[in-house]
Amino acid sequence: MAEYAIEIEKLVKKFGDLTAVNEISLKIKKGEIFGMLGPNGAGKTTTINLVLGLIKPTSGKILVNGLDIKKEGEAIKQQLGLMTQETVVEGELTAYQNLEIFAQLYHVPLDEQPKRIKEALEESELTSFANKKAGTFSGGMKRRLELVKSMIQHPSILILDEPTTGLDIQNRQNMWKHIRELNKLGVTIILTTQYLEEADALCGRIAIIDHGKIKAMGTVSELKRVIGSGRILEIVPEAHTDVPAIVAILKTAFKLRPEVKNDKVTAIVEVGNEERVMSKLLAALNRKKIKIASLGMHMPTLDDVFIALTGASTRDTTHSDTSSRMDSMMRGMSGRG
Ligand SMILES: Nc1ncnc2c1ncn2[C@@H]1O[C@H](COP(=O)(O)OP(=O)(O)OP(=O)(O)O)[C@@H](O)[C@H]1O
Ligand SMILES: [Mg+2]
Repeated sequence: MAEYAIEIEKLVKKFGDLTAVNEISLKIKKGEIFGMLGPNGAGKTTTINLVLGLIKPTSGKILVNGLDIKKEGEAIKQQLGLMTQETVVEGELTAYQNLEIFAQLYHVPLDEQPKRIKEALEESELTSFANKKAGTFSGGMKRRLELVKSMIQHPSILILDEPTTGLDIQNRQNMWKHIRELNKLGVTIILTTQYLEEADALCGRIAIIDHGKIKAMGTVSELKRVIGSGRILEIVPEAHTDVPAIVAILKTAFKLRPEVKNDKVTAIVEVGNEERVMSKLLAALNRKKIKIASLGMHMPTLDDVFIALTGASTRDTTHSDTSSRMDSMMRGMSGRG
């Protein structure tokens, strides 16, 4: 028996000039909940489509439960369940009929089908809606139906492409509960998400992906260590504040490396220096009459790691600063994951 559910080695996918997946290598152990975290266009769905054999890689290797997808695509198909990024329940069909179609598609034996469908309806808390048209369901109900639909052939690996994007917090947490329950039954789960909070809540390990590359990989606490023992300084400017002026002060007077995202300025500050930086910074801002809404210091969150590694805002601001910092962080992280 293979130790790993998925092994990906130097996977590359090009669409013309665009390299959507750029030498991704990772191993996912059986029973893990593994997260692929990345912004729009990072290459998450493309990686998933490659693992599912829906598209062919430009180069690289993929093993599913030890089987090479190039040679054993058919055998692998039964072992993988997929919940796609877009909701695809058939609105004109009932919940029951939606599940039935999938059971047939995945060749669930006819005499087994009613039992599987009953279970799926129970798991998704949709038993009393079995004969209602799926088109009338709320977003959360549709996603739950999709989740159990993707499990109808009892795959050992379940791939969830942004399972909660677009859901409100209540439906999101409900979806998390169902994902955890499936995992407890022994299902290996790979999910993609744009939500740091979701990766933090669900995943044992996370790969942070941007521009088709893995920027960092590890447990949440390992990733947080990327920031070292630092604390995060966070400045929220007022509406018409001169943000570049704040950035300049942090760079020149404090030798920090600030990032700007969602109109907030953050920077990593070494432990022990917090109070000195805070008081001096307040004085400097006052002197220059720069108005701010708030100034604070917090322990690093996965969000901060994400900003530090992807330079999330650097797509629309400068790039060089972040990439040099990322290089030094990646050196610090090497050997992990
Ligand atoms: N069939 C295709 N032909 C050309 N380019 C493609 C194709 N599929 C994806 N891309 C491009 O590859 C890159 C990665 O896309 P992908 O859909 O994998 O990103 P993603 O991480 O899933 O993003 P999102 O969070 O928006 O779903 C994007 O720049 C996208 O435009
Ligand atoms: Mg996607």
